[in-house]
Amino acid sequence: MKLLEFRGVGKSFGGLRASDDVSFSVGDGEIVGLIGPNGAGKTTLFAMASGFLPPTDGEIWFAGRRVDGQGAAQICAAGLVRTFQIVKPFGEMTVLENAMIGAFLRHPRRDDAAEAAMKVLRRVGLGGREHQVARTLTLSGRKRLEVAKALATQPRLLLLDEVMAGLTTVETADMVALVLDLRRTGISVLIIEHNMKAVMQLSDRIVVVHHGRKISEGEPNAVANDPEVVKAYLGEAHA
Ligand SMILES: Nc1ncnc2c1ncn2[C@@H]1O[C@H](COP(=O)(O)OP(=O)(O)O)[C@@H](O)[C@H]1O
Ligand SMILES: [Mg+2]
Repeated sequence: MKLLEFRGVGKSFGGLRASDDVSFSVGDGEIVGLIGPNGAGKTTLFAMASGFLPPTDGEIWFAGRRVDGQGAAQICAAGLVRTFQIVKPFGEMTVLENAMIGAFLRHPRRDDAAEAAMKVLRRVGLGGREHQVARTLTLSGRKRLEVAKALATQPRLLLLDEVMAGLTTVETADMVALVLDLRRTGISVLIIEHNMKAVMQLSDRIVVVHHGRKISEGEPNAVANDPEVVKAYLGEAHA
């Protein structure tokens, strides 16, 4: 079953075409990698799917419903949530309070939200840090808190935007393990990632965008060997 589907999606910022006629889907239970050079339009696709930006053209469907044009809160309630590339925890709040913001969506009572948030924090490896002020976390901790905030909303589909950027090899391996664990518990994942090793390891399928357009899609090995993809990464100067 298709959980998320982009149908001919376009986005213009003035004269700039950040997305152009993009179509692809994420199936229930899948991990799909979304890759492409900087400025390719990856984050813009996330912003449109999660209700932060309206598409200029096309349609976005989630769990059998058309969602483009709906707001982020409504889409999140339906089970689709994103993380942000630039992590912005509420710095003066504790780790637990940050995670509770997500948990309140399904748990209106404070005690229940705290309990659900604690479960999520343990899951992402932040158990024991719940009373720490969020701004004092390391980069790796802030990335994990970003995932925890999203996870606390109990999504069916999680959009992860460069959650491994800046992490060490060991921290990256932990994040890969976490994403695989999420899928084991029924959460589908669409992940933007520049770490090729990690994205190849994780993804069932990979979608490649360049200058706003989808240029390749398929199994990780096929995509990595696609001449169009190699050309996009080397840059037109080398083509
Ligand atoms: N809110 C915005 N207003 C104007 N231009 C934007 C906006 N968001 C993104 N862009 C532009 O759209 C293009 C795609 O950006 P983005 O989706 O962030 O790419 P990626 O995530 O693949 O690096 C870039 O040229 C970027 O500068
Ligand atoms: Mg981006």
